[in-house]
Amino acid sequence: MGRDVIVALDFPNAENTFNFLSKFENHNQKPFVKIGMELFYAEGQKIVREIKARGHKIFLDLKLHDIPNTVKSAMRSLSKLNVDMLNVHAEGSIEMMKAAVEGLTNDNGERPLLIAVTLLTSISQEVMNNELLISRPLDEVVTAYAQNVFKAGLDGVVCSPLEAGKIHENVNKNFLTVTPGIRFADNDKGDQARVTTPLKAKELGSDFIVVGRPITKAENPVEAYEKCINEFCKG
Ligand code: C5P
Repeated sequence: MGRDVIVALDFPNAENTFNFLSKFENHNQKPFVKIGMELFYAEGQKIVREIKARGHKIFLDLKLHDIPNTVKSAMRSLSKLNVDMLNVHAEGSIEMMKAAVEGLTNDNGERPLLIAVTLLTSISQEVMNNELLISRPLDEVVTAYAQNVFKAGLDGVVCSPLEAGKIHENVNKNFLTVTPGIRFADNDKGDQARVTTPLKAKELGSDFIVVGRPITKAENPVEAYEKCINEFCKG
């Protein structure tokens, strides 16, 4: 799977989701989409199957984090959905991540991409030090967690495009970086503090960009999607 744009379907229900996807019905490329907790908990496995049947690739962003045996069983259930990418929290330990890989792998030894969240971007240095009682610098923790993800045999991490180069350098150059925090040069940043354009993300070495509101809230979502593809995937 080469460099691609993943559209975050951050919608509360199936109706809003299909209204949005219908805009792409006549498009030559079905966007790779991300289904997160909001939509999955509202609509369940049915919506994943329906979107898959329409020909979209799916990143199922459920961020599993539990004891290894439970994560392994949960991944076994999710593997039946035939999605293209899933994720876990690296904080669950190397053993938990290995269990996730095992649960996801079918009898032929094949599995979808599996990535991990290192530290949530909502965790500040202060919260990490004072609430989680981790006293190391935050970027050291992110790098160490990413190395754990690689050791466990996963394919990559979710990170900022600004961290993609460092992750490739400190972990492995083929380790995937899946990067949210994307805005066009003329966009409102919203609640994202550190943002880059699709073009900048490409220059920084991101493998996949995750784009929500700049596409879903655009006046013309198809045009905004094409702009992302042109900046990030071409050339
Ligand atoms: O609308 P926007 O482009 O900010 O959406 C980005 C998507 O990426 C959302 O689904 C958000 O939950 C997700 N995400 C993020 N930052 C992370 C991890 C995931 O923005 N660190």
